[in-house]
Amino acid sequence: MAVYQHDVLVVGAGLAGMRATLAAQEAGADVAMITKVHPVRSHSNAAQGGINAALESRGDNWDDHAYNTVKGSDYLGDQDAIEIMCQEAGPAVVELEHMGVVFNRDENGRLGTRHFGGQEVARTFFVADITGQALLHALYEQIMKYNPRVYEEWFVTSLVVEDGKCCGVVALELMTGQIHLIKAKAVILATGGTGRCFEPSTNGLVVTADGQGLAYEVGVPLMDMEMVQYHPTTLKGNGVLMTEGARGEGGYLLNSEGERFMKTYAPNFMELASRDVVSRSEQTEINEGRGIDGCVLLDLRHLGRELIETKLAYINEVAMDFANVNLAEEPCPIRPGNHYEMGGIKTDVHGVTSMPGLYAAGECANVSVHGGNRLGANSLLDTVVFGKRAGIHAADYSKQIEQINVPDSIVSLDEGRIKSFFDKNDNTDTPATIRLAMGQAMNDGVAVFRDEAGMQAAYKTILELKDRYKRLGVHDSGKIYNTNLLFAFELGFMLDTAETICVSALARKESRGAHYRTDMPDRDDENWMKHILVQNTGEDLPTVDFSPVTVTRWEPQIRSY
Ligand code: FUM
Repeated sequence: MAVYQHDVLVVGAGLAGMRATLAAQEAGADVAMITKVHPVRSHSNAAQGGINAALESRGDNWDDHAYNTVKGSDYLGDQDAIEIMCQEAGPAVVELEHMGVVFNRDENGRLGTRHFGGQEVARTFFVADITGQALLHALYEQIMKYNPRVYEEWFVTSLVVEDGKCCGVVALELMTGQIHLIKAKAVILATGGTGRCFEPSTNGLVVTADGQGLAYEVGVPLMDMEMVQYHPTTLKGNGVLMTEGARGEGGYLLNSEGERFMKTYAPNFMELASRDVVSRSEQTEINEGRGIDGCVLLDLRHLGRELIETKLAYINEVAMDFANVNLAEEPCPIRPGNHYEMGGIKTDVHGVTSMPGLYAAGECANVSVHGGNRLGANSLLDTVVFGKRAGIHAADYSKQIEQINVPDSIVSLDEGRIKSFFDKNDNTDTPATIRLAMGQAMNDGVAVFRDEAGMQAAYKTILELKDRYKRLGVHDSGKIYNTNLLFAFELGFMLDTAETICVSALARKESRGAHYRTDMPDRDDENWMKHILVQNTGEDLPTVDFSPVTVTRWEPQIRSY
């Protein structure tokens, strides 16, 4: 075992983690990143469509962006946080451009925009259909100028808490199988979403709710976990994302009768209504028999080959490789699929959680800018705006901490967990079988349409799987890149997080945003315009609490598109 120490430790190296790292470096802190994959293989790499910003120089206005975001959130987003995000969006995008992101240009050579859902104007800046990858590489270059310590292919097994403060992590070095202690004055969780709690998902296999699980384990509340986004266009079969940018460029959604069915559900916004609205419309078409083999069709043929092969080249390749469809020649079968978790670790607008020394940013956090439904392309924005804010605050906080008092023996707890996995090797269960059962149960019971019985069934399955998990062993006792051991740890975080999703979903007795209950189809502002917080207090089941939504300027209205 080795012991390391830093001012700020950032867990996760996607866009939020990298932006936090850069900000803390610039603030003069000694910052390290810890990541279970190479930084540029983080899941932000898979973000396709773009990043929203209302640039005044383009005649746009951040107030309008904020209003669209509040409405998109179905009035569950905290409006003070949304105002900050939308106000800081323009400078954030310009800053990224100055860092070297080669955004697409318009015919006049200025930064180009495309239209995304739930917004009246085109304010999404983009790099073809690989925006996340472009941003991630530019940020990585910036970080590397400071030559930070990167604990690469290390996995955080637990947070270290002393006297109620977070002061580091215990981590497994995957290459050697060694457990280490990394002390830190401040820890920023930036580990991404919960995608792999569901099956299928647009999310990469690394998206296993690690940060949510770590925070939950030490009693930090998770907020609005019932708000799980199903993206309207995921590929038939494997559920890979087919960017909303395709509809932003003018793509149609068709049912089996060849109709643009969105005219029935959102006559003004059509295919570019909010995601929850489009996903429900598609699922209704499918459920009422106007789908094709469980899907509807994304039709881009009228956009022409040149546009498809330049601005949508990546999804065209995906469609050809996995569905044998050339988007310039044929419509492509798609359906709603798990994509994003609006809920997460509750933070303020500086990434501060309820535990001193612990911060969160990006998808694992919930600063409450997405509420019940996130607008497409507000996620990259969230990562860079609130990643930066968390980095600055954590660097500042670390300057006030003189010493970190953690006994090195703290690692023995995690060494014990590993030993216990190895000791149970006569149990034939595997992480893969439990994970698949979890993903299917969540996709059956906590998806686009929900009801009490379906959610209860999903929860019952999760509790049974948690019981099986207690007996789970790891059969491969090797030290070097023991991925079975890694999968076993990840599965623990996912099961806890899946439980918080079920508990929150069962608690919300109304329909709002992505949480649509067929048995309670109305939004109930009088009783339910509030956040749901779930917390681990050491009892068998999570506790549920509530907190008010912050309204600054926009009172709730009927939400139509
Ligand atoms: O459709 C997309 O390109 C996804 C974007 C997002 O989730 O923000």
